[in-house]
Amino acid sequence: MDKEQCIKDYNKKIKRIIISEEEIKEAIKQAGEKISASYDGRPILLVSILKGSFVFLADICRAISVPCEIGFMCAKSYYEGTVSSGIVRITMDLDRDISKYHVIIIEDIVDTGRTLNDIVKLLKSRNPLSLKVVTLLDKPDRRLVDFKADMALFTIPDFFVIGYGLDCAENYRNLPYIAEYDTEVD
Ligand code: IMP
Repeated sequence: MDKEQCIKDYNKKIKRIIISEEEIKEAIKQAGEKISASYDGRPILLVSILKGSFVFLADICRAISVPCEIGFMCAKSYYEGTVSSGIVRITMDLDRDISKYHVIIIEDIVDTGRTLNDIVKLLKSRNPLSLKVVTLLDKPDRRLVDFKADMALFTIPDFFVIGYGLDCAENYRNLPYIAEYDTEVD
């Protein structure tokens, strides 16, 4: 679909809000408190997996009350429409040695689990002091590899979702809530 058609259909594709701004805010506050309590006094590196996690990262880092550093990696999962093709490529890597950090990967959603499975293997091979995964959303029904996040703020059914950093063809990342994307409407 071309860009102009996408903009025309923008609102009718937002089927319904499934997680509100308030619910996201509250869950992040609690996650931030837990992380701050368990990592206090240790060097933390939050690794945001772009692009989808940029909004979550911005909010969760401000809910953490102990010192932490931030790093970015870009992983691209190739989609055919709203279905994962299973191909994951690291297109931008971290800019530092992680062996002196307790690494916390910050992800938007675990779907098939392939992206994080690959990223965790890669980062573990670089010998961080420890490595945990925090995801905003988890879609366990869609899992194709054996992967479990250490912390998932919300578990959702098998919907294609948009908003709060998550996109469909690069649109909708700026919605302040998580919504179901309507794959039926044309
Ligand atoms: P996985 O490798 O299948 O677990 O997928 C990981 C990536 O696919 C996520 O980081 C998202 O960027 C994207 N993704 C998976 N499910 C959705 C969805 O429902 N909406 C938008 N993006 C998604």
